[in-house]
Amino acid sequence: MWNDEGADLPMVDVYLPMMKAAALISAGQLRLFEALADGPLPLPELARAIGASEFGAGHLADFLVALGYLTQTDAGFANTARAGWFTGKHASGVDYTAGLLWTAESWSLMSNLTAAVRKGAPAKTLWESMEERPHWGPVFSSYMHAFAQHLGPDLLAKVSLPDGAARLLDLGGSHGLHSIAFCRRYPGLDAVIVDLPSALTKTAATLAEAKLSERISLRPGNLLAGDWGDGYDAVFYLSVAHNQTADDNRAVIAHVGRVLRPGGLLLIHEYLSGTPLDLYDAAFRLTLLVETATRTYSFDELSSWLTSSGFETPTRIDLDPREKGSLVVAKKKG
Ligand SMILES: C[S@@+](CC[C@H](N)C(=O)[O-])C[C@H]1O[C@@H](n2cnc3c(N)ncnc32)[C@H](O)[C@@H]1O
Repeated sequence: MWNDEGADLPMVDVYLPMMKAAALISAGQLRLFEALADGPLPLPELARAIGASEFGAGHLADFLVALGYLTQTDAGFANTARAGWFTGKHASGVDYTAGLLWTAESWSLMSNLTAAVRKGAPAKTLWESMEERPHWGPVFSSYMHAFAQHLGPDLLAKVSLPDGAARLLDLGGSHGLHSIAFCRRYPGLDAVIVDLPSALTKTAATLAEAKLSERISLRPGNLLAGDWGDGYDAVFYLSVAHNQTADDNRAVIAHVGRVLRPGGLLLIHEYLSGTPLDLYDAAFRLTLLVETATRTYSFDELSSWLTSSGFETPTRIDLDPREKGSLVVAKKKG
């Protein structure tokens, strides 16, 4: 009820979202949901397990009960099904704790919102801030890694690479999970990942663990430099367009058109904007203003850049739930 237009206390709109985010972040930092993953614990034991005072742990747990992430049982506090998103026990198998830890780091960015609104851009982009805070890159990539585990099955289920595909270019490929998944699905496929050095700190180790270091190579650098090699059968541009300006995306897509062989496939994952913007899209755009001074794009914008770069009219696949974004699949004309 607190976000109803007619709510009597408007400050509730500000106060409750702040406390909700702060409590979930704190639970992530204390590994509280993990401590309850194997069953309920009475408060003294929960407090001990997370290295906290009983007084503090009780206050946090009570609020998490009110939010629906914990429940009170005779045996103590217990995780609800929703808490499974932060223990890997959700049906998807994904653990979004890394998202809580990234939000803890990026929390301070929102204090720059007013300045970014005034100027129309942040004083520093997210990538510049990451250079100053080297621990941010790995935390951000771990969050992207969790989201990629969630998105990966959709990509494999909905997208087929061209017959005989041998070379994949993964622009902004970061953690490497999508290249790994497609190289496993297509045994004849090799991949090249282009990303900023800050995003690649753990990728070589991930590739080695997957025993794919020989088939997937890393090219650290700015993808806008266009130094990607050529002769590709498929190109991934997954959750990267919203971090670039419209002009840069137009140029990237035109260059993808040049490095793809005829009949090759460009797969884009994005949060496509509609008219009017929905709540999530409008919030995400505000985040982008503070992080990279960019925005989300509509399907029609992407489609016009694609068709003017030698692609057939692309296909749009909206994912479920909608907050997971959309796929745009484009085939280069033969
Ligand atoms: C939102 S993450 C998506 C990561 C991955 N593609 C995925 O779908 O999980 C965006 C990625 O694009 C990379 N990126 C953004 N701008 C870039 C640029 N100019 N050059 C290289 N990489 C860039 C970031 O470092 C980050 O790894």
